[in-house]
Amino acid sequence: MSEYSLRWVISPLPTEMETQALLNCKELIKKCTGEEYTIELLRSMPVSPTCGSLILIPTGIESQQALNENMIQGILWVMRLDAHTVRILTIMVAENHRGQGHAAEAWMKFRRLAMDDGARSVTLEVRQENDVAFDFYSRRGLVVLGRLSDYYRDTFGIVMHGPLRDEDA
Ligand SMILES: CC(C)(COP(=O)(O)OP(=O)(O)OC[C@H]1O[C@@H](n2cnc3c(N)ncnc32)[C@H](O)[C@@H]1OP(=O)(O)O)[C@@H](O)C(=O)NCCC(=O)NCCS
Repeated sequence: MSEYSLRWVISPLPTEMETQALLNCKELIKKCTGEEYTIELLRSMPVSPTCGSLILIPTGIESQQALNENMIQGILWVMRLDAHTVRILTIMVAENHRGQGHAAEAWMKFRRLAMDDGARSVTLEVRQENDVAFDFYSRRGLVVLGRLSDYYRDTFGIVMHGPLRDEDA
C-alpha cells in the first residue's frame, strides 16, 4: 500500500513545462522504462492536451508543484494522429506504486477523455518482451498490427491497435 493517495490529473504540455519539471519526467521515464530522453526531445513531444494525457500525482497537490518538486509517480501521454485515432506515446507507473490498479485507472480516464474528444481508436508500440504491458493492452481489445525492427535501440517493437469503446473486453 502507498503511504499517500495518488490521482491522475490532466498533464501540462511538455512544451509548456519548466526545465526542472522536464528533468523530473526524464528521471521517471528512465527509471520506469530504461529509455534515455533528452530535454529537447521531451519538450518537443506532441502531447495532446485534450485526448487523455495524464500524470499521477499525490492527492491535494497541484500538477505544476508535483512536476517541479519531483512528486510525479506516473505518466500517460497521448498524441492525436487524426480525427478518430490517438497514439499512446508513453504510459508508466513508478515501481513502488505498481500492482495497485493505477494503470488500469489511467486507461479508463484516458479512454473517456479521448472518446469525448472524438477518438474512436488507439495505437501504440510496446517492447516485444514486455509481457505485462502487452497483456494489459490485449485485455483492453488491442491487437498486433506488426513488428518494428528499428523503433527501440535494443529490441523489436510490437505495434498494437484497437477500438476505444465504453466497456473493456
Ligand atoms: C505496465 C505498467 C504501466 C502497469 O502499471 P500498474 O499500475 O502496475 O498496473 P495495474 O496495477 O493497473 O495493473 C494493470 C493490469 O496489469 C496486471 N499486472 C500488473 N502488474 C503485473 C505483473 N507484474 N504481472 C502480471 N500482471 C500484472 C494487473 O493484474 C492488471 O490486470 P487487468 O488488465 O485485469 O486490469 C507498469 O508495470 C509500468 O510502468 N511498467 C514500466 C513501463 C512500461 O512498460 N510501460 C508500458 C510501455 S508500452
